[in-house]
Amino acid sequence: MRRTLIAGNWKMNGSLATNAALLSEIIAGMPVAPSRDVVVCAPFPYLAQCADTLAGTVVSLGAQDVSVHAQGAFTGDVSASMLSDFSCGYVIVGHSERRAYHAEDDALVAQKVLRVLDLNMTPILCVGEMLEQRESGQTNEVVAAQLNAVLDVLTSDHLSRLVVAYEPVWAIGTGKTATPQMAQDVHAFLRQQIAAKSSDSAELVQIVYGGSMKPDNANELLQMPDIDGGLIGGAALKAVDFLAIIAAV
Ligand code: PGA
Repeated sequence: MRRTLIAGNWKMNGSLATNAALLSEIIAGMPVAPSRDVVVCAPFPYLAQCADTLAGTVVSLGAQDVSVHAQGAFTGDVSASMLSDFSCGYVIVGHSERRAYHAEDDALVAQKVLRVLDLNMTPILCVGEMLEQRESGQTNEVVAAQLNAVLDVLTSDHLSRLVVAYEPVWAIGTGKTATPQMAQDVHAFLRQQIAAKSSDSAELVQIVYGGSMKPDNANELLQMPDIDGGLIGGAALKAVDFLAIIAAV
């Protein structure tokens, strides 16, 4: 059985003071031995703070992006080895906001995934269609192209260590959520794509849903057979909401 993963994506939010308060509430509210993997993905400048605060707890640390380069003259970029130095276990790669605002394409995203895997961290690869693509019946085609660009560069060892986040772009930060069945259909389709490369890995890969997941819709979404957790934006900034999602059945 796959464990479920609940990952908070703080995006460009927070401060030393608010992070300290949020993390201490999350840590205090966590079950001693949670049945789910729990991660918070913080902005780069706060990784040190979060790594210190989360050390020895059941909550893991993640980053929200990584450079495609290993090191060198890339002003403003942050390498995978730097993230590893600050105890990041996870890195979000190819979030739709990076694809839209930083022109990240599938080939770049695939190389970033490799960087993360090479440092023994877990990439959370985001895929998802835009509203007009869903309305014109292109959802499967779009997510298959995004996923397969990455699957094509991975070895079978890499493959089982991938996490995929299905995030329909029209559901991110909008309060609109895919219905559990809509999300399940895409998750099952994504798992079939992985199975075409390796049926063993397809059973292991966690495929999480993102896009306005909240305490009041988490139960239904997480009950679907191919939804193995959530990538949570807005609701991850309120400890009470994040903890409620972690506790959802
Ligand atoms: P949201 O964001 O939960 O605020 O919709 C999810 C995400 O973008 O990862």
